[in-house]
Amino acid sequence: TRPLKVALLGCGVVGSEVARIMTTHADDLAARIGAPVELAGVAVRRPDKVRAGIPAELLTTDATALVKRGDIDVVVEVIGGIEPARTLITTAFEHGASVVSANKALLAQDGASLYAAAEQHGQDLYYEAAVAGAIPLIRPLRESLAGDKINRVMGIVNGTTNFILDKMDTSGAGYSEALDEATALGYAEADPTADVEAFDAAAKAAILAGIAFHTRVRLDDVYREGMTEVTAADFASAKQMGCTIKLLAICERAADGESVTARVHPAMIPLSHPLASVREAYNAVFVEAEAAGRLMFYGPGAGGSPTASAVLGDIVAVCRNRLNEATGPGESAYTQLPVSPMGDV
Ligand code: NDP
Ligand code: HSE
Repeated sequence: TRPLKVALLGCGVVGSEVARIMTTHADDLAARIGAPVELAGVAVRRPDKVRAGIPAELLTTDATALVKRGDIDVVVEVIGGIEPARTLITTAFEHGASVVSANKALLAQDGASLYAAAEQHGQDLYYEAAVAGAIPLIRPLRESLAGDKINRVMGIVNGTTNFILDKMDTSGAGYSEALDEATALGYAEADPTADVEAFDAAAKAAILAGIAFHTRVRLDDVYREGMTEVTAADFASAKQMGCTIKLLAICERAADGESVTARVHPAMIPLSHPLASVREAYNAVFVEAEAAGRLMFYGPGAGGSPTASAVLGDIVAVCRNRLNEATGPGESAYTQLPVSPMGDV
């Protein structure tokens, strides 16, 4: 069987781990997919930076030429941001490649048009890594729960802010010191404002609400309040009430089923609640579905290796689809419900 070719766009915190796992697990991946998977090129900004395990001849600064090659099966976009990521993804579809992306900011802004482009060119768009790092959440919502009716998705979806709030709460660390540590560990976005002002969590809420409620929800539809105003005094007050403080994303279907709401903000959580024990950069998400009841998804929510695990799962899925000359599920939106940031709370 011919090798399937993967182009990696970005080789930073996430991309370098994707390349490492692809190389070290090459035999296992080939066995699981039914064909070898080959790293065909790696696009970066700084080609002279030393990158362990990446042959120099694979590196390029010309991401556009890489996605236009025409022999690429899967483009993995782990550059981040809106442009050039958006144009590179649509160019990849136009040139016969499917796409795996971890880019929640882009998906929350332009998911519908990216899906339309994928469909137009008969390609896949997978993005398990875009929400909650290593935790399988997108696929369970899109596939395992596709026959149920989801009424609520709620939880901690940003690792950096959970790390900061946890350090402030448990070790009395200051906000800046904890943010620096989260950045050094590879949890924070290139501009950590996205984390601490909750743009990242709001983007994830938009993606989750869209899939859970089969409608289109964009970043601007989500009420957003960051955690930069949370102080040591707030933690002391919370403690007196038997609570801690977490940044929550809450997506709900209205009782009449006719609208949805999505919001992200710091919230007091009783210490007895499972979310209160989510430490460091872990995430935890509750999904409430009519037939299934209440499900909890928990695990590492950020960082190179956990995120790469989710990306690799998508690469395997897309490669299997290609060998079967099939595509996976497309956009799940089939209705447009009114979306309001806060609802009736
Ligand atoms: P990094 O900043 O560590 O890496 C970005 C990479 O993209 C770098 O290798 C950079 O090159 C490359 N790059 C930037 N601009 C260009 C360009 N124009 N052309 C080619 N390459 C370019 O980011 P992360 O790996 O942390 O994040 C990547 C994506 O994954 C983002 O969308 C992020 O939101 C998402 N994500 C990140 C998680 C995390 O825990 N870090 C978790 C889940 C999702 P160079 O190395 O030369 O600078
Ligand atoms: N910056 C993000 C976070 C990365 O801290 O959750 C994972 O999406």
